[in-house]
Amino acid sequence: MCGIFAVVNDKSNQAAQTTLIGLKKLEYRGYDSWGIALIPEKRKKIKVEKHIGKIGQAETKLPNGNIAIGHTRWATHGGVTDRNAHPHLDCKKEIAVIHNGIVENYKVIKSNLSNKGHVFKSETDTEVIAHLIEEKSKKVPIIKAVFDTFNSLVGSNAIVVLDTNTETVLACRNGSPLVAGIGNNQFFLGSDVPAFLKFTNRVHFLHDGEAVVLSKKGVKLYDLKSGNEKMLNAQILDWKMEDAEKGGYQHFLLKEIVEQKNTIPKTAKINKPALKTISEKIRNGYKIVMSACGTAYYCTLAAKYFFAQLGIESETYGSYEYLPFTKFANKKTVFISVSQSGETADTLIAARAAKKQGAYIVAVVNARGSTLERLADSTLSVGAGPEIAVVSTKAFTAQLSTLYLLAHYAINKPEKGISKIYQLGKSLEKWINTKLFTQITKLAATLINNEDLYLIGKHLNYPASLEFALKIKESSYIHSEAFAAGELKHGVITLIQKGTPCFVLSSNDEAKDEVLSSAAELKARGGKIIGISPVKSAEFDFHIKTLDLGDLTFFPNVIVGQLLGYYLGIGRGTDPDKPRNLAKSVTVK
Ligand code: M6R
Repeated sequence: MCGIFAVVNDKSNQAAQTTLIGLKKLEYRGYDSWGIALIPEKRKKIKVEKHIGKIGQAETKLPNGNIAIGHTRWATHGGVTDRNAHPHLDCKKEIAVIHNGIVENYKVIKSNLSNKGHVFKSETDTEVIAHLIEEKSKKVPIIKAVFDTFNSLVGSNAIVVLDTNTETVLACRNGSPLVAGIGNNQFFLGSDVPAFLKFTNRVHFLHDGEAVVLSKKGVKLYDLKSGNEKMLNAQILDWKMEDAEKGGYQHFLLKEIVEQKNTIPKTAKINKPALKTISEKIRNGYKIVMSACGTAYYCTLAAKYFFAQLGIESETYGSYEYLPFTKFANKKTVFISVSQSGETADTLIAARAAKKQGAYIVAVVNARGSTLERLADSTLSVGAGPEIAVVSTKAFTAQLSTLYLLAHYAINKPEKGISKIYQLGKSLEKWINTKLFTQITKLAATLINNEDLYLIGKHLNYPASLEFALKIKESSYIHSEAFAAGELKHGVITLIQKGTPCFVLSSNDEAKDEVLSSAAELKARGGKIIGISPVKSAEFDFHIKTLDLGDLTFFPNVIVGQLLGYYLGIGRGTDPDKPRNLAKSVTVK
């Protein structure tokens, strides 16, 4: 939640404009409001610009200067107003602060500071940070004032502080992501790499308990507790600028959906040593427990079917519901945490709890340098590249194909899994084309005014239906609800009336006939049946033909949902890259 950007020693001397470019790349992390603070040339007082709403095509009128910080907000404390937008200033306007996280003890800090005469202008928890630094810096140098302030905050937080007196940017991390970019004599900070990828791919991902100080001379790394300087070993990422650009597509969401024909087969090339290590544990009797949130949770549900069909038992939990079951994890548990960002608070809490029980933690993660990766014993990095759209698509399918591979490694048949994933990539390459887009656009046009859609699927097509429904909800705000086909007669069928759109997801498998019987029951109640399946059937009023790939039909069936959500969103005037109320990574409980 919230996007953070900073630049020091901006070459163009237009640090505010550079910050705006960075913030536009981070808007997926929060889009209630945005703001920039700049030290203007030859001036001591900070200049601030703040606006509510999306950053979109915004421009900034801030003057020249080579040092600035900026923020895109996903509101937690305080409504969406200009005043509550970050950055926040101290009383003397010499310190500006941006923040990602929640300061759980902000009320106590605020009341102490008010008693000392500090005046607050916003309702946010963030503003107390600026004033506390101001108070502390009366007695100690700014670096100590910032570190001491940060160490006194309760909660998961990342802060970035702009100090006019030293012309530095100081940043601290505990639980919320921060990455430093080391360019050619200009230096950056971002919540995520795409923010500054245009300028540099040389990075340091801050660990919890670390801080950096950016000045004209470079970037220094510190340990927050001791205050001592540490050695900074920057790494070069293989990400390119194009990865964070729309590349001719109208939206990142569509670009990322199309990219799946490459990102899925890529998973068969990577992670081989880690897959071997983890699969040995599974063969040696370790029990698989998976945990994740949202789309990543549906990935684990699908993986559970993939494991089961190869004779491997596994369990999965929404991470937010895992704690009552933590006690069953032990030294013979392989605990697989799945996450695009690797920063989801509930997912991290569950993984830490399992780790405490002695479980072997595996991170199946897309973003680089994440907290989840650091706490894991082993990482399956799914390599889908930056996923910018808030709605997860390519990260989901890359995670699932990685788990599909893991299942095959576990039964000692890696080559079979690898060749099936390559085949899937080839089939998707041909199938994702204009003809498919046209068909789905036509279907979207018939559904655009519906407020309720229902979906059914059985076995693998049950998690496929859940994920399909989530894509429709997120991208188009249409209420879409998925059920296991077997659940239909136990109450759900009351919802079906004449003309109710009912999606029936099926594959050419053992469950097909049963699902089609359910489709017939829906049709008999007036339901308009939309078949998503490799095989046409008399029950379907509308059919999107997918690929007949056995268990891997799951993938094209879900991709139809991703595309349909996208086109419904376009038709209903939503922003498919930034759905209302959502943030790309949910770093609070
Ligand atoms: O970063 P994560 O994969 O841990 O995020 C989990 C969910 O928040 C995420 O999948 C969410 O459901 C997306 N909006 C799905 O499109």
